[in-house]
Amino acid sequence: MKSVMSNIRIVYYFVLFSTFACDFPKYFQNDYVMKYERHLVHFYNEKYIRYNLTYSKVSKTSRRFLFTVDVLQDIGSNIKVVLEALKFTSNEYRRFGFRYEEHPCSFTFNSPFGFSYKNSDTNLTTCPTKKGSYYLRDLNLDQSKFPPFVPRGRFMLNGYLYVDDILLTNMSFYIKIVPTDPLEVVIN
Ligand SMILES: *[C@@H]1O[C@H](CO)[C@@H](O)[C@H](O)[C@H]1NC(C)=O
Ligand SMILES: *[C@@H]1O[C@H](CO)[C@@H](O)[C@H](O)[C@H]1NC(C)=O
Ligand SMILES: *[C@@H]1O[C@H](CO)[C@@H](O)[C@H](O)[C@H]1NC(C)=O
Repeated sequence: MKSVMSNIRIVYYFVLFSTFACDFPKYFQNDYVMKYERHLVHFYNEKYIRYNLTYSKVSKTSRRFLFTVDVLQDIGSNIKVVLEALKFTSNEYRRFGFRYEEHPCSFTFNSPFGFSYKNSDTNLTTCPTKKGSYYLRDLNLDQSKFPPFVPRGRFMLNGYLYVDDILLTNMSFYIKIVPTDPLEVVIN
């Protein structure tokens, strides 16, 4: 169970922070495909930030990620991301005991999972972050580098970003983990 949780956490990272090009040399998988369904930005704190996040279809098989943000006052390094995953079972998204906290300043620049800015098209590269406008765009996910054997099904991934314990934004990503092999029996 523990490793399942950590896989979900990594999948979550891919979803939320996928522009920080991922370099997972030790992972290879071709047993599933992660499908994006939709996302919702519930709230952002206009004292600190204003942003647009789109992940729009450009062709049958690809989407374009575009994130633009106006940082309205300097943001310090006391940033915290809280992540939780809910799994769709019996017609609703239910908690299954997964909650995780991370400090983006440390994980962006000193990442335990090998995230880095090196292949991303962005000018949001400093933490703490000064007041100003920034963008992150054109992400190409290499799903073969996702961790293998993540649970199948539909998930809602909720993310909360705090600075000095003040909520800056919260959002939900809806994704689906689909086995590559159409004959795989999925037990939910
Ligand atoms: C978000 O999009 C709106 C409408 O296109 C635009 O007016 C606004 O400047 C954008 N905000 C940011 C932070 O990119
Ligand atoms: C980042 O790029 C945007 C859009 O090109 C530009 O308006 C902004 O000044 C840049 N920000 C920094 C800190 O370079
Ligand atoms: C997001 O934050 C807003 C403002 O605090 C809150 O009203 C809303 O319930 C939150 N949504 C979720 C899904 O947590």
